[in-house]
Amino acid sequence: MARRFLTGFDPDKLDLVQTDFLVVGSGIAGLFTSLKASDYGAVTVLTKQGTRDSNTDLAQGGIAVALDEQDSPGLHQEDTLLAGAGLCDASVVEILVNEGPARVGELIRMGADFDKVEGSIIFTREAAHSHARIIHASDATGNEIQRTLVQQCQQTANITVFENIVVLDILTNHQGRCIGVLGIDRLTGRLALYLARITVLATGGAGRLYQHTTNPSIATGDGVAAAYRAGCRLMDLEFVQFHPTALCLAHAPRFLISEAVRGEGGVLINERGERFMPRYHDRAELAPRDVVARAIWQERQEGNVYLDATHLGAERVRRRFPSITRNCLAYGIDIATQPIPVAPAAHYTMGGIKTDRWGRTTLPGLYACGEAACNGVHGANRLASNSLLDGMVFGDRIVRSCMEVWKDTPFWERKHIAVGENTEEKEAEQVQGWSPEDGYQSLPERGILPFTTEAIEELVEVKATICGLQKVMWDQVGLVRNASGLARAVNWLVTAEKQLPLEIKEVVQAETANLVLLGRLVATAAWLRRESRGAHYRTDYPASREQEWRQHIVIQKQIH
Ligand code: SIN
Repeated sequence: MARRFLTGFDPDKLDLVQTDFLVVGSGIAGLFTSLKASDYGAVTVLTKQGTRDSNTDLAQGGIAVALDEQDSPGLHQEDTLLAGAGLCDASVVEILVNEGPARVGELIRMGADFDKVEGSIIFTREAAHSHARIIHASDATGNEIQRTLVQQCQQTANITVFENIVVLDILTNHQGRCIGVLGIDRLTGRLALYLARITVLATGGAGRLYQHTTNPSIATGDGVAAAYRAGCRLMDLEFVQFHPTALCLAHAPRFLISEAVRGEGGVLINERGERFMPRYHDRAELAPRDVVARAIWQERQEGNVYLDATHLGAERVRRRFPSITRNCLAYGIDIATQPIPVAPAAHYTMGGIKTDRWGRTTLPGLYACGEAACNGVHGANRLASNSLLDGMVFGDRIVRSCMEVWKDTPFWERKHIAVGENTEEKEAEQVQGWSPEDGYQSLPERGILPFTTEAIEELVEVKATICGLQKVMWDQVGLVRNASGLARAVNWLVTAEKQLPLEIKEVVQAETANLVLLGRLVATAAWLRRESRGAHYRTDYPASREQEWRQHIVIQKQIH
């Protein structure tokens, strides 16, 4: 079904940019990697919108890092493994928690200003952390980080940023090595070639797969979909994190209400005014994110759910959470005096492009970090505030791993690009199990997805539009799943895929194609995993099946 490229192109007719390091994406992972790489060579950054538009910029809570004297990387590791529900790669987590403090130190030296009392950084607690270890800049930590990194990049002569460029596809040479990307200008629709010795995808996640999400409109998984079309392995796609508390008001976007509100003492109450979380978990509001999200989903079957911070004192609430205060006030809610109506929303994709601990994908020359990557650090459920740290730690490791090799890589030219025939490839995904201990293996139950057109009739009309897809994904591949809903979603997505234009001419078509592809892969992986684990919950298999399913699902395009 999927073609190798979203559109045909003639390399001799397109504009060409050549660079040492090409970084796609301008969130924390992309910009941190770029700054590190700029010590060695020329860096070109492609960003889908403006340099400041990213999921990082919207991050509220902070960065989890063991800096407090009472804390330790070992405790941070334990909490990460526990939240990851048996699917974290412990050795990768060890890297995260041990290298994290040095990377945060570098960020601070670049100028990021985290909240302090009497000159010392202060820490807040978030769900599933045994220690208060989240450093923050009030409730706009991501914004402070983005400001710092953008400023640093602007002051670095070796870094050139191209705004409004969307990655369409990965370019490879005749030996199957990545040599850059094909990009499209979102304003003019013009295609261009970006060739590089080293290419890094830091394109973020795909929260826009869902009707309700905390993610910005640019989070359409473009890099992950392009990597799949180029033959990369993807991993853990079924694990989508739903943040428990997004603002839930008709006509308001699902604005994130940070977990830090619960960390500072906010409680969840149902329609009857009852505090319900102690009934679900002994850590109550600070239980792992998946547990809190499902509890809210359950309570919402009988009415609204609210996050109540009014008992914390108006002055404290407004000082600690100025952005949340401002955003809620815009919709008529004063969080200092009124409980906030909340509901879960898609927030983070644990799955992505499979990488090793040096950020290497399965395609030579192509690296990935941040939310686009899946290196095993988050397992089935990411621990709160670990994502910003992940972006820096593994971005830095990519540059360290390339230090020796990048100069031996030739400067690629147009003639090296393997274009081939962009004909319809009869493609099916090859699905395998994988674990760090046993490597690749077959899955316990492969099964064959039932394809019936009847099955999709009750769903919204099959029309390959982002809105239609988001409703199907929310209803059938959301927080609570079962076999029949997942099979119907796959059928809907397969049908929608057939309606996509053969030649993509504009960005919205590319985004639709990418979301339809990723939606199908997420739904397929969720259908295959016949158990519940971390963020993946199935009513037909409500328990974890340790013997069979303590392994990852890895998907790769297979061409017949
Ligand atoms: C939050 O502030 O609740 C989000 C933090 C995260 O996604 O880790």
